[in-house]
Amino acid sequence: MKIVILENADAVAAYGAEIFKRQLADKNDSVLGLATGSTPLALYRKLIDANKQKQISFSKASTFNLDEYLGLDGNHPQSYRHFMNEQLFDHIDIKLDNTHTPNGAAENPLQAGDEYEQLIKSGGGIDIQLLGIGRNGHVGFNEPSSCLSSRTRVKTLTQATIEDNARFFSADEYQPHLSITMGIGTIMEARQVVLLATGESKADAIKATVEGPLSASCPASALQMHLSTTLIIDESAASKLADKAFYKHIERENQILLERLGM
Ligand code: GLP
Repeated sequence: MKIVILENADAVAAYGAEIFKRQLADKNDSVLGLATGSTPLALYRKLIDANKQKQISFSKASTFNLDEYLGLDGNHPQSYRHFMNEQLFDHIDIKLDNTHTPNGAAENPLQAGDEYEQLIKSGGGIDIQLLGIGRNGHVGFNEPSSCLSSRTRVKTLTQATIEDNARFFSADEYQPHLSITMGIGTIMEARQVVLLATGESKADAIKATVEGPLSASCPASALQMHLSTTLIIDESAASKLADKAFYKHIERENQILLERLGM
């Protein structure tokens, strides 16, 4: 796991955006795995700017989002599909037909999971998966106790996640407590994973992800087994890491090596 600790949320977004820009520059038909939540928003704004300035193009790219609320169709203002349209897709040169989210309105949600897996497979698999993280270590909507080799399926949200996400809903609005989410096994098959975390509220989850045991109690800890994961976190999210100084030292050493190799 590559751990990059930066001074603030803006630096985290900038570093993450550079990875996605490089990915698109190297492979314009990249398959991007995308995430919702508030953390990726600043990164999306940077990608929108880069697209407007013609530094990158999404015209040949395709996307797969991690998750969707069960019971909401894509036109619902609270659906993650709607969120993605508003926050990213409507502002870049991507073909909407090439953007995918699990079908929250599927008649048979159990089948919808298998169909999503099939779609990812036929798209060639995910080149790079963006992740945020929940306070309890969830990724996508894979809550603690999720099977670490799970595939896209229906998942029940914890009370903690429902409360964390309540800020996006008005008091009298229906808030779903079920979701359809890529599994941990699905995420682990992405060729590259980039996880962003900012703020004190994520410090326990980051500690468990990096320094905890590999455990379904913290689903993100499965990334310890992934061959190409970069954690980009700010000082607050890194504040509970016991070996923070060592992770920074590794990054400085990596930097020196890359400079020596002219990369
Ligand atoms: C939701 C999403 C996750 C996201 C998490 C954290 O539960 N399903 O993909 O990582 O929220 O969101 P935020 O970035 O707003 O803290």
